[in-house]
Amino acid sequence: MRKTLIAGNWKMNKNIGEAISLVKELKKLVEDVDDREIVVCPPSISLAAVSAELKGSSIQLGAQNMHFEKQGAFTGEISPLMLKEIGTKYVILGHSERRQIFNEDDELINKKIKSALENNLTPILCVGETLNEREVDKTREIVGEQLNKGLNGIKNKDMKNIVVAYEPIWAIGTGKTATPEQAEEVHSFIRNLLKSMFDSKTAEDIIILYGGSVKPNNAKDLVSKDNIDGALVGGASLDAKDFAEIIKC
Ligand code: PGA
Repeated sequence: MRKTLIAGNWKMNKNIGEAISLVKELKKLVEDVDDREIVVCPPSISLAAVSAELKGSSIQLGAQNMHFEKQGAFTGEISPLMLKEIGTKYVILGHSERRQIFNEDDELINKKIKSALENNLTPILCVGETLNEREVDKTREIVGEQLNKGLNGIKNKDMKNIVVAYEPIWAIGTGKTATPEQAEEVHSFIRNLLKSMFDSKTAEDIIILYGGSVKPNNAKDLVSKDNIDGALVGGASLDAKDFAEIIKC
């Protein structure tokens, strides 16, 4: 059985004080939730403060990005060891904003995935197509390529520690959500592709999240689909009540 995972990607929002207030409120709202894995991914500057605030809570900490090297002359970057030291468990890698705005390609993302695994962080590998790619019927080709390249060289045993997130780019921050049927179609394609890349049991156990305008009013319909094992939530994770509602959906 796959455990439902709900992760909040705060992107470049909330200063340290606001981040602490948000997790304080969230902790209270989800105190009684024990059947879901909850993750918050604040901006890196707030990770340490949020980590301290999460002590003793079951909410896990995630980062939004990292460099693949452990240390060195990489101005402005943050290493997996630094994330680990402050109690980070997950790291989002290959988010479409990193791919599109910061030109991250599949090869770089693959290096980051391997480095995250080596350093005992669980990568959340994001894949997804643009509106144009969907319209010309290239969704499977694009998502397939991102998975093949992003997971190149990853062994079966390591797949237990990887989460995949399907995030159609046209649905991110636009208020346009994929319908549960549209999302499930791609999720089941992803599951089948993973079965061709890894052993069947391993592929069955991989958590595949949906992301793209997940809100309290659509989360349940999405997450109740067979191959949708949770959500990666942007905008709605900035409000503790909305995020808690999604968690409890
Ligand atoms: P959104 O963002 O929920 O604001 O659409 C999702 C994401 O980018 O992970």
